Amino acid sequence: MSPAAAPKPSPRKKTPREAAAPGPRTLAIDIGGTGLKALILGPDGKALTERKRVPTPKPATHQAVMRELKKLIKALGDFDRVSVGFPGVVDEGVTKTAHNLHESWEGFHFADALSKATGRPVRVLNDAGVQGFGVIEGRGVEMVLTLGTGMGCALYVDGKYVPNLELAHHPFRNGKTYEEYVGEAALQRVGKKKWNKHVQRVLEQVQPIWNPHKLYLGGGNARLIDFPLPKNVIITENIAGLLGGFALWKEEPLPQ
Ligand code: BGC
Repeated sequence: MSPAAAPKPSPRKKTPREAAAPGPRTLAIDIGGTGLKALILGPDGKALTERKRVPTPKPATHQAVMRELKKLIKALGDFDRVSVGFPGVVDEGVTKTAHNLHESWEGFHFADALSKATGRPVRVLNDAGVQGFGVIEGRGVEMVLTLGTGMGCALYVDGKYVPNLELAHHPFRNGKTYEEYVGEAALQRVGKKKWNKHVQRVLEQVQPIWNPHKLYLGGGNARLIDFPLPKNVIITENIAGLLGGFALWKEEPLPQ
């Protein structure tokens, strides 16, 4: 299907804030292991619409996710460009891994497929990478760890993103990877108290390796943390995974 023939997002009455904000609108999408989330950002990078969410289909093949995304997008109104946070390795719009989705994503040109479906240009980056763009200061070494279905990890040097740092699947402790130790399955298996201990151990491990001046904790499970955090560690709002999508269009080419 050519972009010209692509289905247009359905027209919707503009809110006063939308009408007062001329300039490009960014559709920001966050693909998670349990939910697909989206909202529209205005030209200032602030949210213009509420966040919409649909459950991630099971199995989460690229065909099934694309189907759900089309429904999600329809409910949001018009936009000029698209940013996506994807839970796996992404290289120039092509998804290489998707540990918590489905193997069909391996080698899928997601940016192209979504661009054809929406008729708009699309940029796709690892989800933790996008999350960081929503919170970093842009100074020195900053790190992001996300605690959700999987464990996301992103690193920035003076605001420049070091792409696809897949700490999640590195060996960590007792024959387990980082993700097996602090991901959603671990939380379910060991319970909140022990899981907190696990997160603490992960922080103790990564801090002296990368020495970030700020370490941001994001993802749906970060709110379950109940131990005192070191001074440089900050719990961030999950919405950053969508707000960070704005930064993907700040640079030419894609900041990866
Ligand atoms: C993936 C990462 C992703 C993280 C959080 C991991 O399983 O390998 O790429 O950032 O989950 O979604």
